[in-house]
Amino acid sequence: MDSGDSREVEKWLQQGVVDGVTTNPSIMLKEGIYDMEDGARRLCALLGDRPVSVEVTTNDQEDMIRQGRVFASWAPNVVVKIPVVNEFGESCLGVISALTHEGIRVNTTAILSFNQALVATKAGATYVSIFAGRVADEGNDPAVVIRNVRHWLDDWDYPAEIIVGSIRTVMDIQNAALAGAHIITIPPPFLPKMLDHRYTRETVRQFNRDGEKALEQIAEMHARGNGDS
Ligand code: E4P
Repeated sequence: MDSGDSREVEKWLQQGVVDGVTTNPSIMLKEGIYDMEDGARRLCALLGDRPVSVEVTTNDQEDMIRQGRVFASWAPNVVVKIPVVNEFGESCLGVISALTHEGIRVNTTAILSFNQALVATKAGATYVSIFAGRVADEGNDPAVVIRNVRHWLDDWDYPAEIIVGSIRTVMDIQNAALAGAHIITIPPPFLPKMLDHRYTRETVRQFNRDGEKALEQIAEMHARGNGDS
């Protein structure tokens, strides 16, 4: 689930559909979670042994490593989110490699192409986060990128898993699942849309009414004295 909102996360955890949580500084800010440590610790406690991705907030590679170590000390289920390049286009692969060698799981984020996923995997990332909506923003087909990365990971037996994020429509979720995403990180507002259907409600209404009618029939038969068969 793509959210820092612990109430939403708890709600959907109880429904049994949450395998982990991803956050980023923009999500935290939008949801009014200004104290990242407090927000992350709260999520980690809720999630038990399921992963919670927390993103670094610096361009400097040494600082990324420092932040990653601090995040990882908050809870054993923290996964450190490292962008594949910083905002100047400088490689963050060394950070991914260093943290991975220290036993800290890395979710490489902001991936928009097959090749970025390839190098992040080679550097040791546990997760490669392909941003479907942003791939589409650039006029490319996210399903093609996801499918190609999945084939390549499977062909060479790499353990990295694909997280598809940047979900903008319900259809993005179906497309990502069918293209081979291991994990889809879904913003909470999409979950009721995936679940509910007008005609399902109508169908259940029909069954409930007919169930009630059957009970009424039994009651009538008893009342007529011929319900003891
Ligand atoms: C996922 O890990 C990302 O944090 C998130 O999905 C980015 O989504 P956006 O492109 O809508 O900002």
